[in-house]
Amino acid sequence: MEISRSACLVLSFILMCGLVPEVMADAEETSGGLGTTQEPIWLPDIPATEEFISAAEVAIIGFFQDLEIPIVPIFRSTAQQFRDIPFGISNSSAVLSHYNVTRNSICLFRLVDNEQLHLDAEDIENLDASKLSRFIQMHSLRWVTEYSPLIAAGLFNTMVQTHLLLIMNKTSPEYEKSLQQYREAAKLFQGQILFVLVDSGKGGNRKVISYFQLKESQLPALAIYESVNDKWDTLPITEVTVEKVQGFCDGFLKGTLLRDHDVEGDAEARKEEL
Ligand SMILES: *[C@@H]1O[C@H](CO)[C@@H](O)[C@H](O)[C@H]1NC(C)=O
Ligand SMILES: *[C@@H]1O[C@H](CO)[C@@H](O)[C@H](O)[C@H]1NC(C)=O
Ligand SMILES: *[C@@H]1O[C@H](CO)[C@@H](O)[C@H](O)[C@H]1NC(C)=O
Repeated sequence: MEISRSACLVLSFILMCGLVPEVMADAEETSGGLGTTQEPIWLPDIPATEEFISAAEVAIIGFFQDLEIPIVPIFRSTAQQFRDIPFGISNSSAVLSHYNVTRNSICLFRLVDNEQLHLDAEDIENLDASKLSRFIQMHSLRWVTEYSPLIAAGLFNTMVQTHLLLIMNKTSPEYEKSLQQYREAAKLFQGQILFVLVDSGKGGNRKVISYFQLKESQLPALAIYESVNDKWDTLPITEVTVEKVQGFCDGFLKGTLLRDHDVEGDAEARKEEL
């Protein structure tokens, strides 16, 4: 039986619905302890708004012509939930027109592929807190994004078709150093390849590892794929360095597969040659 990559992604998109509560619980856990509150930052003019956007990997802005609409308190309370993502708010008509907002809009700005995603007036009319947090979680892609079923759906929705996974146990002693190198490499492929981290210490990620036909003993490993076709490749990697990651990505982009992943097909082909 063959499951194509795109079918697999569609599948994870569907599965995601059932997994949302678990993912949400995760997000609440990671967003930090009690006490500190995050109020959206008031953005009075265009320069302040531009600076706010460029300072973060992911930034959320509520552009509201009218601050009395029901989404505004929802937006404010959602900001509390995402302590690691800056939230801004503006009602300046100059700012709104600069960002092409005619009435009210919530926008997510992201550095990794220079995308901006809009929820427009019609979208936010019926938006509740859980839909808004789901939108933010799904689309918050960073230089390195940690894999989750929601993020899988977000990756599927991008224009960038090549995705790289570093599959590694987050509790391993090499993790911090590896992540730092991986993140540096990610910056070399802005808008070209999205970099993802898959924690192999998490039981739920076993499907991803087995999809790429990797054994436990081959980890940590890199896996790269194109979301539009079945092209993919893997590379077990004992030490993650910028150079190794870059070399692997360049090789894949140039179409020189470094290693043939289709072990069975390969064996068949060799048999035929003999
Ligand atoms: C923006 O909101 C502030 C505070 O509510 C208000 O004083 C100001 O008049 C508003 N500006 C516009 C352009 O609506
Ligand atoms: C607003 O729309 C115009 C025309 O479509 C576009 O050129 C411009 O880049 C947009 N502004 C922003 C800040 O996205
Ligand atoms: C991840 O690493 C920790 C600590 O090194 C280890 O206890 C755990 O079994 C590992 N998990 C997996 C799935 O390899």
